[in-house]
Amino acid sequence: MSVPLKTISQVSELRQELAAYRREGKTIALVPTMGNLHQGHLRLVEEAKRHADLVVTTIFVNPLQFNAGEDFESYPRTLEADQTMLASAGCNLLFTPSINEVYPNGQDNQTRVVVPGVSEGLCGQKRPGHFDGVATVVTKLFNFVQPDVACFGQKDYQQVTVIRKLVDDLSFAIKIIEVPTHRTPEGLALSSRNGYLTPEQLVKAPALYTVLKNMAQTLTTGNTHFHELTHTARARLAEQGFAPEYVEVRNLDLSPASLDAKSWVILIAARLGKARLIDNLIVQRDSN
Ligand code: PAJ
Repeated sequence: MSVPLKTISQVSELRQELAAYRREGKTIALVPTMGNLHQGHLRLVEEAKRHADLVVTTIFVNPLQFNAGEDFESYPRTLEADQTMLASAGCNLLFTPSINEVYPNGQDNQTRVVVPGVSEGLCGQKRPGHFDGVATVVTKLFNFVQPDVACFGQKDYQQVTVIRKLVDDLSFAIKIIEVPTHRTPEGLALSSRNGYLTPEQLVKAPALYTVLKNMAQTLTTGNTHFHELTHTARARLAEQGFAPEYVEVRNLDLSPASLDAKSWVILIAARLGKARLIDNLIVQRDSN
C-alpha cells in the first residue's frame, strides 16, 4: 500500500524533519542508494520497515566513488519512477541532495574516510579509491540521518564488509542489516547496471550465477583447490562471452580462504558488453 512520500533535498530541512520524529521516540532506518531503483532496492526498504518506525531512503549518485572513465555522467537518473516505487514500498522520506549539498567545500578538499584492509583487493583493486568514496559518502549520510539501523545488500559483499568495519572503527551506534541478493528467476542479480545490457546479453548474463553455483557445489563436496577452481570458472565465463576481472574464494571476512573454514564467499566481477557485473555466493562446507 502506498504511503505519502516526502522528498527533501536540503540537509537542514532533513535534520529538522528527523529531529521531530526522534522527539516522538520514533526509530529511523536508512537505505542509501544511487537511484534507478529496482526490486532489489525495494527489498532493502521492506527490510528497513521491519526494523524501524520511519524509513529514509537516499538517492545520490556519488561522484567521489567513480573513477575517471567510469559511468558517473551516464549513470541512469530516474527520479520520478523511483519516487513511485518508494511510495508503494512504504518508504516515508526520500533525501535527494545535490553534489554541492553533500560536498559544500568541494570534492578535492573533502576529508576522506579510508577503511584499510577490506577496501583493498577485489573491486578495490580494479576501482582504486572507490571504497574511500563509498565510505566517505556513507559516513556523511550517517551523520545527516543519524539512523538506528541502515540496510545494505549482500549483492555488494565487499561494500557491506567495508561499512561494517567503518561502523565498528568509528563507533557509530548504527545496526547494519545485510539483505540477501534479489535475483531474476534465471538467477541474474538485479542491478541498475543491467540496463547497459543488450537483449542478447541479458539472456547470457545469468551464466554468471551458474558459474557461482557450480563453484559452490564443488567446494561443498570438499574440493578446496581454490586456484584450480577459480581458473576453471574464469575459463567458463570467457567461453560464455564475459571478460572476467576477478574470481576469488575468500573467508567471510574477506581474508584469504583458509582450508579449514566452515564457510567461504565466492566473489566474481566480469564485464559483459558495456556492463560491469558483480555477484557473490556464500558457501557452507558440507558437515558430513
Ligand atoms: P546502489 O548500487 O544504488 O545500491 C544501493 C543498495 O542496494 C546497496 O546496499 C546494494 O548492495 C543494494 N542492492 C543493489 N542491488 C541489489 C540486489 N539485487 N539485491 C539486494 N540488494 C541490492 O551501493 C550503492 O548504491 C552505493 O555504493 C551507496 C552505498 C549508495 C553509496 O553511494
